[in-house]
Amino acid sequence: ISVDVFDFVAFGGTGDLVRRKLLPALFQRDRDHQIEGPTRIIGVSRAEMTRAAYRDFARSAIIDHVDAEDRDQETLDRFLDRLDYARVDAAGEDGWSHLAQVLGEHPDRIRVYYLATSPDLFGGICRRLGDAGLVSPQSRVVVEKPVGKDLTSAQRVNDAVGAIFDEKRIFRIDHYLGKETVQNLMALRFANALFEPIWNSAHIDHVQITVAETLGVEGRGGYYDTAGALRDMVQNHILQLLCLVAMEPPAALDADSVRDEKLKVLKALRPIVDGAVATHTVRGQYDAGASALGPVAAYADEIQNSASQTETFVALKAEVNNWRWSGTPFYLRTGKRLAARCSEILVSFKAIPHSIFDAGAGTIARNELVIRLQPQEGIRLHLMIKDPGPGGMRLRRVPLDMTFAEAFGARNPDAYERLVLDVVRGNQTLFMRRDEVEAAWSWIDPILDGWRHAQDRPKLYRSGTWGPSASIALIERDGRTWHEDAA
Ligand code: BG6
Repeated sequence: ISVDVFDFVAFGGTGDLVRRKLLPALFQRDRDHQIEGPTRIIGVSRAEMTRAAYRDFARSAIIDHVDAEDRDQETLDRFLDRLDYARVDAAGEDGWSHLAQVLGEHPDRIRVYYLATSPDLFGGICRRLGDAGLVSPQSRVVVEKPVGKDLTSAQRVNDAVGAIFDEKRIFRIDHYLGKETVQNLMALRFANALFEPIWNSAHIDHVQITVAETLGVEGRGGYYDTAGALRDMVQNHILQLLCLVAMEPPAALDADSVRDEKLKVLKALRPIVDGAVATHTVRGQYDAGASALGPVAAYADEIQNSASQTETFVALKAEVNNWRWSGTPFYLRTGKRLAARCSEILVSFKAIPHSIFDAGAGTIARNELVIRLQPQEGIRLHLMIKDPGPGGMRLRRVPLDMTFAEAFGARNPDAYERLVLDVVRGNQTLFMRRDEVEAAWSWIDPILDGWRHAQDRPKLYRSGTWGPSASIALIERDGRTWHEDAA
């Protein structure tokens, strides 16, 4: 079903996110005829650029980031025709009247202001949009993460954006919420009768959330060195995943019902303070080593700052202090330049209380549910069965496997495709509400403080491994191991 006609205004219009994600996502939706009529896409940045040059920029973005079999000339022509460009100084006064001119008089048209810029600019851009008379009741703003770098700065950004747009028109994007498998987590939990009765600490031993990347900082060192893995990944993506696993069933799927439940989880997280910082957290930084593509440099060399103490890896033991989860730890880890690209949620059920099988039957492994976000999106449930054949009772662990590519054979849409159109539709279910973002910072800040006070240096780990050995120790101390079945 197509959405209403809209004007999509991308600040940071020549940047990496617009090139790699937003233009390809809008193109795919155009190709599926969800974008229709005179919808326009307007790139905004400080660069001097003609409309034709911006179209060339967009053409190369589509060619580089959309598979050849997914692009045809007709869609490409139609898509490029929607593009326009305005030179605006987001941090100054230049160009706003030009933007107003390009946008023209369409008071009823939906306007999406997408701020793919540094968060320092969010407040100023919103204020200037307001001053230039460009905010109508049909306007909405999308802000990229991270919103701030701690609770205080996040509140400042939220106040500044909130002075111009009311909360219903602010879309704080966390692209993990747009990933197919993440949405499937809600389907799995709430469209099946099977799991919910055992979805608690009486039956679940522990949960692991891993977001492992093989890439390094890829030219984003300027931003990344001021952020680090805890702010870049845990404060948003990983805590959002934790919320979806741990939340109570919402009464409905509307935005506030879901976000109310997620907020309760964030508020129930046990603070990691004082001595717990040392026992519940590990931070690492990649050293030189090997990736699938050959030798790679150390982080500090890549960003040319040998004194950098920014973490590119973090492992945490989180606990949700409520009736459902008391006693079930959530182990979280994420890092760059790890051994494999693999993001998954593992739910490890408790061991059987008593075995009727003798030792010859083999060990009885726990049931595990693995929700794989990428690559090879899918869901696997590991069960014990009898090894086939007449050789007596021997047990074996086998997965009930639903790999989506095999089950459906369809192209897996990028998270931004879904999310960008949700903004146009005005559906905030998959976006973060102000109080969620701030509750997440309230949990993150003491960890950052703890590291600072302890003058904790990140532990170096070889690129191409699973991070510092202290991360293995963190979980093994509790008699558990990280799941590394990348197959
Ligand atoms: C971004 C982070 O939000 O997510 C990046 O800023 C990270 O550092 C990226 O690489 C990972 O996203 P995905 O979709 O590739 O898992």
